[in-house]
Amino acid sequence: MSRIVYVNGDYLPEEDAKISVFDRGFLFADGVYEVTSVLGGKLIDFEGHAKRLERSLSELDMPAPVTMDALLEIHRELVARNEVHEGLVYLQVTRGAADRDFAYPAEPKPSLVLFTQTKTLADAPVAKTGIKVISIEDQRWGRRDIKTVQLLYPSMGKMMAKAAGVDDAWMVEDGAVTEGTSNNAYIVTKAGTIVTRHLGNEILHGITRAAVLRFAREAQMAVEERSFTIEEAKDAAEAFITSASTFVMPVVELDGAQIGDGTPGPVATRLREIYLEESLKKAV
Ligand code: PDD
Repeated sequence: MSRIVYVNGDYLPEEDAKISVFDRGFLFADGVYEVTSVLGGKLIDFEGHAKRLERSLSELDMPAPVTMDALLEIHRELVARNEVHEGLVYLQVTRGAADRDFAYPAEPKPSLVLFTQTKTLADAPVAKTGIKVISIEDQRWGRRDIKTVQLLYPSMGKMMAKAAGVDDAWMVEDGAVTEGTSNNAYIVTKAGTIVTRHLGNEILHGITRAAVLRFAREAQMAVEERSFTIEEAKDAAEAFITSASTFVMPVVELDGAQIGDGTPGPVATRLREIYLEESLKKAV
């Protein structure tokens, strides 16, 4: 069945959903995006994603194509039209079509595109076994806090992981882990402290990260937001990642070394349960 895709005000069959070849998203990766998960037909943490989108737009002096209220309505309409019970909504805003010039156009007409992907998320079988990762050098640009569509290096990272026979890669800069190719990275020390890199321009400020750290602190778990190395991670009791598409996902192997006993640990498993339970309560 063909999906219905939203393009600049219209709901169209995906074959008819088109963007100009002069769109700056296509020519310059001059665009930002969000991925929001859908559980039980409802959006998880829409407000967090809308706020981060506003911040990404503002950091790039890019006008918002519609209000955040209108954006919520478009998300809901698309979920309803495509009968998405569980999956993702992808949203992209670009600076729109303009004659090719590195300088931003004086009067940009931003493009807005949204589409859905139906996917099993909450009961994804891999959550029971955990994922394996390798470490790679972080070669991305310096403003990773802005969620741009400039994703070639993360794609290369996924291919390096695939070539190594594993699921994903953790990126390392100046000896410290930044994040996964499309997720935030965590370890749990042998003393039980959850450690994840502090916020800054070096990582994306994950919406799932913010929620998971809040839930962890509410559950009296110790949390430290600081850098950690691959060596510390290999020696940790547990490791995991978070993102809108994986929620909390255990990591059981790093660069060929087993983490803990090589199975999903109790902290990651509990956090996944809490995240799903609490997020569903506030889904819209
Ligand atoms: N990726 N770090 C990076 C580099 C990411 O691309 C993502 C999200 C995250 C986690 O952010 P959040 O919890 O807000 O999803 C961290 C999305 C899912 C993607 O590109 O598909």
